Amino acid sequence: MGEKGPEIKGCKTPEIYKCAYPAPYPEIRVVGQNPYYARLLLEDYAGQVSELSAINQYIYHHFVLEPEYEEVSDLLSCIALVEMHHLEILAETILLLGVDPRYRTIDRNEGERYWDATFVFYGTALCDRLAADIAGEWAAIANYRRHQQMINDPFIKQILERIILDELHHIRLFNQAIERYCQPSMKRE
Ligand SMILES: [Fe+2]
Ligand SMILES: [Fe+2]
Repeated sequence: MGEKGPEIKGCKTPEIYKCAYPAPYPEIRVVGQNPYYARLLLEDYAGQVSELSAINQYIYHHFVLEPEYEEVSDLLSCIALVEMHHLEILAETILLLGVDPRYRTIDRNEGERYWDATFVFYGTALCDRLAADIAGEWAAIANYRRHQQMINDPFIKQILERIILDELHHIRLFNQAIERYCQPSMKRE
């Protein structure tokens, strides 16, 4: 990340996120504090299917695939960076809604469930990992769409819409890797 030297403002633009959809991110703001909306976003942030799960899954896949599939390994770390940006966006939004963005979800009875490493699909080979990564992106999009319907705050709806554009872009990138490495004719495992 330090390659660009003094260009600090680059950190605020998608420029460093090579695996992000090429569009600006909306301003992080909310109509007002709302713990109920914060709880919905905590699921996207640190639930079973969440940004935190995606980051840890992609980084693990990056580690284990690096020796044999360097290109896919690079793609995974590149996409993980974008998921970190999503994590940050959600944390800022949850804070504005008046809730502490600890890595946990909160149920209706105030019960907390902290994120844990069993949420990660570890996998055993390239193609089951890529298939799980794509399935995770689709599941994340479905949750974002559901939450968009439940959240009556135009700023948050816009934030989620922008995140969805990135997730759709990730599906395209993962599909390219699958086409290249997991087609039946070229199957290596
Ligand atoms: Fe994400
Ligand atoms: Fe994604």
